[in-house]
Amino acid sequence: MPEEPLLSRPRRNRKSKVVRGFCREAWLSAEHLVLPLFVQAGGQDEPIPSMPDCQRYGLQGGLLGAVEAAISVGVGAVVLFPRIEDSKKTPTAEECYNPDGLIPKAIQTLKKNFPQLTVITDVALDPYSSEGHDGLVSADGEILNDETVEVLCRQALMQAEAGADIIAPSDMMDGRVGAIRETLDEEEYINVSVLSYCAKYASAFYGPFRDALASAPKSGDKKTYQMDPANVREALREAELDVTEGADMLMVKPAGPYLDVIRAMSEAVYLPIAAYQVSGEYAMLKAAADRGWLDERAVVLESLLAIRRAGADVIFSYFATQAARWLREG
Ligand code: PBG
Repeated sequence: MPEEPLLSRPRRNRKSKVVRGFCREAWLSAEHLVLPLFVQAGGQDEPIPSMPDCQRYGLQGGLLGAVEAAISVGVGAVVLFPRIEDSKKTPTAEECYNPDGLIPKAIQTLKKNFPQLTVITDVALDPYSSEGHDGLVSADGEILNDETVEVLCRQALMQAEAGADIIAPSDMMDGRVGAIRETLDEEEYINVSVLSYCAKYASAFYGPFRDALASAPKSGDKKTYQMDPANVREALREAELDVTEGADMLMVKPAGPYLDVIRAMSEAVYLPIAAYQVSGEYAMLKAAADRGWLDERAVVLESLLAIRRAGADVIFSYFATQAARWLREG
């Protein structure tokens, strides 16, 4: 039997750097990246054991230096997470809307030093709650929805007043996007954006983050508000609601294990999609790289590119500064 001639040879489109460049469907650049930063009061920085090379930056410590480094390689945005002293944590988390608290001070310091920086703030109660939950907890352990949303609105408003550019609710309470949007609009913060953590899964990949903020739940888990890792259609329902409630951008979190959700959401709605490469994803890559089992530069850039290819416009990553530096080096 004569051999069939091989007419299609996909390898022809991979034969040189230039031809591969013609065919590239996704790319990564510094403008896609957001650097998450852990902040604490005072002048000391503290390492986070489960997140090598990440620090909790003191407000008068290394915070400005870390932001300067990010900006110098083209990263234009940061998102702030506070380590609140245990003595300031309460069951009702009042510290979350204290206008003299850690987050408003951090926003003001950053805005004063870097007026062009986009500052994103997290809206949720867990860093401020003695219960370690994103919402208020009733006497019998229920996470209260509507009562929590009222507190979240106060928190969001205080952050807008302090100068935040984008408010990012990560709490997963129902109706919070619309309520926050209304609160901001009533106070004429019409240009402050809402980036909703729309599909946030009840994931074990948040472990190192909770170490960093000492914010793990005191009892129970987050499964009555964060989503079941098994579900994707539910993510689209959340997306539909956030669109109607006036969100400007939607997030999927974690990122790497949920690429199918990013893809589905980016096809289902016309808002920009963000994805969060979370602390556990960072820790995995870092741990393997530190042992010499993986090539750090290559796997980090590949993991971020894969998130872009799946459909994310914006990526929150603890590798943001390092990745942007690598991209600059070419
Ligand atoms: C809490 C919050 C969490 C993260 C961001 N905001 C943790 C959680 O829900 O328990 C996780 C980020 C990460 O793991 O990097 N509102």
